[in-house]
Amino acid sequence: MAQLKKTIGALICVVGLLVPLTSATTREVEYCNKKANYDVKVSGIDITPFPISRGVETTFTINAATDEAISGGKLKIDVAYFGFYIHSETHDLCKKTECPVSNGNFTITHKQALPGITPFGSYTLKMTLIDAKKKELTCINFYFSMGFVAAAEGLAEA
Ligand SMILES: *[C@@H]1O[C@H](CO)[C@@H](O)[C@H](O)[C@H]1NC(C)=O
Repeated sequence: MAQLKKTIGALICVVGLLVPLTSATTREVEYCNKKANYDVKVSGIDITPFPISRGVETTFTINAATDEAISGGKLKIDVAYFGFYIHSETHDLCKKTECPVSNGNFTITHKQALPGITPFGSYTLKMTLIDAKKKELTCINFYFSMGFVAAAEGLAEA
């Protein structure tokens, strides 16, 4: 643990872009368009386990609320690495939450393992919720960093 703290400390000095390591699992999100009045409001996202590691299945639970019932739609996920778009996938919303979604609070659960080759660095995950009529219900961004421990091992060897 002391070793881990030392190497993480060194890393934070070296790479200013990284967010500090935290054991908190609930993160605030940012709307893609801060001026939009989305039908679906997102209060936060739970990430388990956190921090995110390569090859480990991570569960993202989005806490949301809707004014109108949702019969179905799509969840689109875009991943960017240091601001460069690298990956996109679309899922059936009803596989990520229970449909139909009645008005009020609901959660969307998405499980994903980032591949072992995922490079060390700073990522943005964008999640867009689209209803059956292709209307954008909400769009959120959140940020995370990858690779503290693996990179720290690399540093120790150097
Ligand atoms: C819905 O979620 C919000 C934010 O998490 C919370 O403050 C509110 O109490 C919840 N409402 C219900 C009815 O559970």
